[in-house]
Amino acid sequence: MTTATRETIIGDPVDRVDGPLKVTGAALYPSDFTFPGLTHAVLVQSTIAAGTIGGIDAAKAEAAPGVLAVITHENAPALIDAPLTPLGPPPPFPLRDNRILHQGQHVAVVVARTREQAAAAARLVEISYEEVAPVLSIADPRAPVLLDRWGLDVDRGDVTAALASAEVVYDETFTTAAVTNNPMGLFATVARWEGNRLTVHDASQDPMSARRALATVFGLPETDVRVLVPYLGGGFGAGLRTWPHVILTALAARVTGRPVKLVLTRPQMFTSVGHRPGTLQRVRLGVTRDGRLMAVDHESTATIAAVDDGGVEPVTQITGNAYSCPNVATHDRRARLHIPSPHWMRGPGTTQGNFAVESALDELSYTLGIDPIELRLRNYAEVHPGSGRAWSSEALRECYRVGAERFGWARRTPEIGSMRDGNWLVGYGMAGVTFTSGQARCQAAVSVRRDGTAHVRSAATDLGTGTYTIATQVTAELLGLDIGQVRVEIGDSDLPFAPYSGGSGMATSLSGAIHDAVGNLVRAFLDVVADDESSPLRGRRADDVTTTSGGIHVIDDSSIGETYADILARHGLPEITAHGERDPGVNAREPTANGSFAAWFAEIRVDADLGVLRVARIVSAVDAGRILNEKLARSQMIGGAVMGIGMTMLEEAVFDPETGRIVNATFGDYLIPANADVPDLDVVFVGTPDTVRPLGIKGIGEIGVVGVSAAIANAVYHATGRRIRSLPITIEQLL
Ligand code: MOS
Repeated sequence: MTTATRETIIGDPVDRVDGPLKVTGAALYPSDFTFPGLTHAVLVQSTIAAGTIGGIDAAKAEAAPGVLAVITHENAPALIDAPLTPLGPPPPFPLRDNRILHQGQHVAVVVARTREQAAAAARLVEISYEEVAPVLSIADPRAPVLLDRWGLDVDRGDVTAALASAEVVYDETFTTAAVTNNPMGLFATVARWEGNRLTVHDASQDPMSARRALATVFGLPETDVRVLVPYLGGGFGAGLRTWPHVILTALAARVTGRPVKLVLTRPQMFTSVGHRPGTLQRVRLGVTRDGRLMAVDHESTATIAAVDDGGVEPVTQITGNAYSCPNVATHDRRARLHIPSPHWMRGPGTTQGNFAVESALDELSYTLGIDPIELRLRNYAEVHPGSGRAWSSEALRECYRVGAERFGWARRTPEIGSMRDGNWLVGYGMAGVTFTSGQARCQAAVSVRRDGTAHVRSAATDLGTGTYTIATQVTAELLGLDIGQVRVEIGDSDLPFAPYSGGSGMATSLSGAIHDAVGNLVRAFLDVVADDESSPLRGRRADDVTTTSGGIHVIDDSSIGETYADILARHGLPEITAHGERDPGVNAREPTANGSFAAWFAEIRVDADLGVLRVARIVSAVDAGRILNEKLARSQMIGGAVMGIGMTMLEEAVFDPETGRIVNATFGDYLIPANADVPDLDVVFVGTPDTVRPLGIKGIGEIGVVGVSAAIANAVYHATGRRIRSLPITIEQLL
């Protein structure tokens, strides 16, 4: 059969199919689930950052009203370590011993009949600590440093020689603050045991890995654990790990023999589910006077927890593939601190690394007197620099051209401070983005029923970005059905295997699995009518047919064919189901030279007297291959831009240098963009469907945040002459 012959559904700006469920409250998020006899757990967290627990006195808490159990390292049953996941080792389980590795570490869990009783009793748990001085700064020489822990470093040509002989040398240092994912939906877990079977509702972006972790920890067959997450109130990477509180909730349910619900508080979200690590980066560039890059050396140190090797943070990984340059060295290091585990947050590593490299190029554009876009074009990566192979698709030049046109880049006068609007200093800045989206092995089952409707099943999760909707569109188009005839069921580890919903890879991976399943399904229908004298499709091969109007017909003659419903009815079948799988390779690493691309343009205004910074406009032009749903894709880009504005101008998880406590771990103190901080955001999609990925999809989740910071910081320089190499950009830096 041919596929994607109709372009009428894939690409349509279809409204979210789950929208009505969400606005009517019918969509159940993890914390909405309940069971008869539900009890509630509340965490007790360490008040020190490093040391040991001397003793715990839980007597008062245990005697408090409604309390069913107080679980600490002293009475917790021994558990097996959770297994490795595609993102590395699991976080250390906190109740194994008396060690304290960060402020906010879970040291006890209190279970009571009501949440209020559990919270009250949690305050009665008395803990004595033996404290040691924590290591809390990247710059602290006591911090152990991991070198190239994940083997990502690049060494191409001879950077040292090229820097030594370069006509112009650039050498600067950048820092980016730790920021937190903080999805609106507080992470929650509801666990219930029925004998030795465990059911868990959890805010997970990866129900299959959560199932595996829980099965391993409690010594169960994986089939006896079910993890459900039909709806998720955001994740941004925070849900990519089975965090200790998930295991603690299941443990609490086992210990008490009752179903248990645990909902993290907002302050606990800052310390319990990962954050974007802070970085310290050095960028050295060697260029010719006419702007050709001869050497790129990018080294980064990102923070990591004192004991935890999960979560690769590839700050410098993309640098060697963003521009054409004969001599490239990149170094990724991690400094071990007594902080809560950093982990993936939208565009992990790349976001911080892009800020440094794209700021550095902007600085060079002023040094050399070359327009920032022109400088990038002079170093354009016509082929994938690392492999020398052709990109599987690539439209970065289009991103620059179309983005510049929409933004009005030609109106920019290059001199610093030359664009003024009354008391506002106006600045234009831009940044380029090269990004590698993930994809991984994924399965789906697709059924067509007697009533002509289709049912799609996969363990995939929808973070809120539109997985239900794009899966509906892809299935509808491939089967020749209407949107309303397709029902998608996801977010359940009992369904066919799906990878984690992250790395901008779910749309690609799931679409590939659905594509395979639909191909198998059409073949299954042809098999059913293979000897059916009354079928116009008798004896037809898959290559001869295509799908439209609720059925299958011959490619060259749409009058020869019949509907799925007719075939099922005539053969007395309630439905036919087919399974599909796509596996892009043993590892999720791309076997080809694959990339998504974007160009960002920002107009900012700085009050000449007060240093107040406002973003006036942002334009992004994006090559993400085939766009499945322009409305959802635009939404992703806009959301990413808002997040980018946050990390550029507002957000910083401030660790107290003495205690390691995040001093601003509330939405009152931790600043995130409000409507007034977010200007007009214009998004335009360019490029063509990818040549190697399923349906030409390249993924769009993360590229929306990468590049925003440099575009804004570069615009700030254009307006003020202040080169800010430290995020977030604060008013103090602009006064
Ligand atoms: Mo994203 S950081 O892969 O959820």
